[in-house]
Amino acid sequence: MMLEYEHGKKRKVRNRQHQHQPKAQFLSLRYLTICLCCFFVLLFFFLSSDRISVRSDSLRPSLRVPALSVLSSMDSIQRSFHGRFPPLRVEDRVQFPDHVLLILSTIIGRGGKELVCVYHGGRKEETLVLPSISSDEFDEFRSVVRCPNAPLNYSSSVDLQFSGDLVKKKKKMSDEKKVHDWAKVGYEAVIDGDTVVVFVKGLTRRPHKESDPSYYKCQFETGVEVFVTQALAAAQEVVRCVLPESLKLNPEMFRVSVIHIDPRGRSTPALPSVARVYGSEKSSVVKVKKHELCVCTMLWNQAPFLREWIMYHSWLGVERWFIYDNNSDDDIQEEIELLNSENYNVSRHVWPWIKTQEAGFSHCAVRAKDECNWVGFFDVDEFYYFPTHRSQGLPSKNALSSLVSNYTSWGLVGEIRTECHSYGPSGLTTVPSQGVTVGYTCRQANPERHKSIIRPEMLTSSLLNEVHHFQMREGVGHMSLLESVAVVNHYKYQVWDTFKAKFQRRVATYVVDWRENQNQGSKDRAPGLGTEAIEPVDWNRRFCEVWDTGLKDLVLSNFADQVTGYLPWQRQQQLQQD
Ligand SMILES: *[C@@H]1O[C@H](CO)[C@@H](O)[C@H](O)[C@H]1NC(C)=O
Ligand SMILES: *[C@@H]1O[C@H](CO)[C@@H](O)[C@H](O)[C@H]1NC(C)=O
Ligand SMILES: *[C@@H]1O[C@H](CO)[C@@H](O)[C@H](O)[C@H]1NC(C)=O
Ligand SMILES: *[C@@H]1O[C@H](CO)[C@@H](O)[C@H](O)[C@H]1NC(C)=O
Repeated sequence: MMLEYEHGKKRKVRNRQHQHQPKAQFLSLRYLTICLCCFFVLLFFFLSSDRISVRSDSLRPSLRVPALSVLSSMDSIQRSFHGRFPPLRVEDRVQFPDHVLLILSTIIGRGGKELVCVYHGGRKEETLVLPSISSDEFDEFRSVVRCPNAPLNYSSSVDLQFSGDLVKKKKKMSDEKKVHDWAKVGYEAVIDGDTVVVFVKGLTRRPHKESDPSYYKCQFETGVEVFVTQALAAAQEVVRCVLPESLKLNPEMFRVSVIHIDPRGRSTPALPSVARVYGSEKSSVVKVKKHELCVCTMLWNQAPFLREWIMYHSWLGVERWFIYDNNSDDDIQEEIELLNSENYNVSRHVWPWIKTQEAGFSHCAVRAKDECNWVGFFDVDEFYYFPTHRSQGLPSKNALSSLVSNYTSWGLVGEIRTECHSYGPSGLTTVPSQGVTVGYTCRQANPERHKSIIRPEMLTSSLLNEVHHFQMREGVGHMSLLESVAVVNHYKYQVWDTFKAKFQRRVATYVVDWRENQNQGSKDRAPGLGTEAIEPVDWNRRFCEVWDTGLKDLVLSNFADQVTGYLPWQRQQQLQQD
C-alpha cells in the first residue's frame, strides 16, 4: 500500500515540477505532508458522515469536496483504500438519446477530463472504460457528468472513476441502480413562496393547455420521511404543489416527484425523479428592493458574444442576469466571473435538459420573481435598440429600464413585446472584432417574431408558455411597442464560421441530422440553405435588404474609446492593457 502511495506521489510531483517548481526533493516532502493532511481531514468527514448517514444530506455543504484537480492528485490514496473512500457518489442516472447524464452528490469542477465512465456487462461480464464527455457543477450540492451511451450489451448503469484509478471489477447485481428514462422523469423543482414548481417529463398533456390539477399530487422524500401534497396548477411539464409545512424550515434536500391520479381516483406510483429542493431555501429571504429589469437567457457555447451583450444591455438598464447554460464547453464560466468582478450581476445555472426551453424559461421566471419586477427573455445575439431616441437626440442610457418602469405601477400590462429585425452577414467574411452591433449593418426589411419582457408576478400559476409567450393571469394584457420606438436587432445570420457553429450545434442537438431540421419548416432554419454545412458562395450578401447603421452609430458614439476607438468588449484592447 505504501509503495503504491509513494509511487503515485512521485509521479504527481514530477508533473508539477514541469510547471513551476525546480526542487523535487523538497517538494516531495511537502507533498507528502499535504497529502497526509488532506487524507486525515477527508477521513474525518468520511467517518462522521457515515455515522449520521440518515441526515447526511444536510451535512453535504460541509462535505464540499475540493476541486477536481486536488482530488485527482490524491488518486493514489483512494486507490490504496480499495474504493472504500469514493468521493464520487453517483446519485442518479438519466438516459438521453445520445448520452447518459450522471448526477453526483459531490461537488466537482467543470471540465471533467479526469473522469472516466465505467460500464459493466458485455459477453463475459467485462468492464469497459470510456472517457467522460463533460462535467459541471449542477446546484449547490450536486454535479453532473455526461457519459457516452453504454455499448451494446453493457448496462446503462454507468459508474464513474478518476482516470488512472484501478478499475473496479464487476459490480454486484444489488449495486445496479435504475437508470431513469428521459421520457419519464421529474427533472427540476424550484420553490415559489408557499408552493413548489416541479418540472416533469412523461405526463400526457394537451399541448399549450392548462390541465386539471386535481389529477396530480407531489411527493416529497427525504431519506426517512415522505409527504404528499395536492397540486394547485398544472400545464405542459409543470406541476405546482403546496409546499409541506415541515419542509419550509427544514434545511434539507428533498426529492420531489409527481403522482398522477387516474379518473377513478386511484394514485399511480410516483414518477421517477431527480428533482430536488432545498427546504429552507426561501424561508429566510429578507425582502429587499427588487431590480427593475432582469434578463433570462439560455445559451450554448456563446461565451465570445456574452460581454458585448451584457455591457450594452446593462447600459440600457438591465441589472441582473440569469444565464441558463446548456452544456457549454467553452470558457463561459471565466467570462461570467470576469463580468461579476466588474460589478455586473450575472449567475450561471446549469441546465443539462434537452429540448426544454419553455421549462427553462418558466424555471427562470420563478427564480427571478423575488428579485425582479420585469424579466426579459432574449438570446445572446439579440440587442434592443431605440430608433426614435436616437433620431430625437434623447439619451438611450437606461431607456429599457425606464420604459418598463413606466408600466410597473399600472398593473395591467404584464408583457411588453418588441419586434425583431434579422441581420445578415452584411458583406463580412470574418468575425467583426468590434462586436456584432458594429459589424453587422444589413438586415431584412420586414420584422419577424417578437421578444417579450414580462412581469413574473403576473404569470398564470401553471406558468403556461410557448417559447417567448407566457400566459398572463386573467385581466392582465400585453403591450406591443411600435417599431419606431423600439426594435430588437437579431444578429441571426452572421459570418459563415459563426453561423455554421450554431447550426452544427443544432445537429448535435439530438435531432438526427441537419436534413431533418430542414423539413421542420421552422422559422429557425436558414431559408435556401442546402443540406450540408458548406458555405454558399453568396453567403455574405444574403439576408441583406436594408442597410441600417442605427445601432452601430449609437454604440460607436457611446462606447468607443475617444482616442483609440476601441470598444470595451474588444479583445485586442484587453491584450494591450495586460
Ligand atoms: C449481445 O448479447 C446477445 C445475446 O445475449 C448476443 O447474441 C450478442 O452477440 C451480443 N452482442 C455483442 C456485441 O456482444
Ligand atoms: C440545448 O442544446 C441542445 C443542442 O444544442 C438542444 O437540442 C436543446 O434543445 C437545448 N436545450 C434547450 C433547453 O434549449
Ligand atoms: C445581485 O442581485 C442580488 C439580488 O437580486 C443581490 O442579492 C446580490 O447582492 C447582487 N450581487 C451583486 C454582486 O450585486
Ligand atoms: C416613460 O414615461 C415618461 C412619462 O410619461 C415619458 O416621458 C417617457 O418617455 C417614458 N419612457 C419611455 C421609455 O417610454
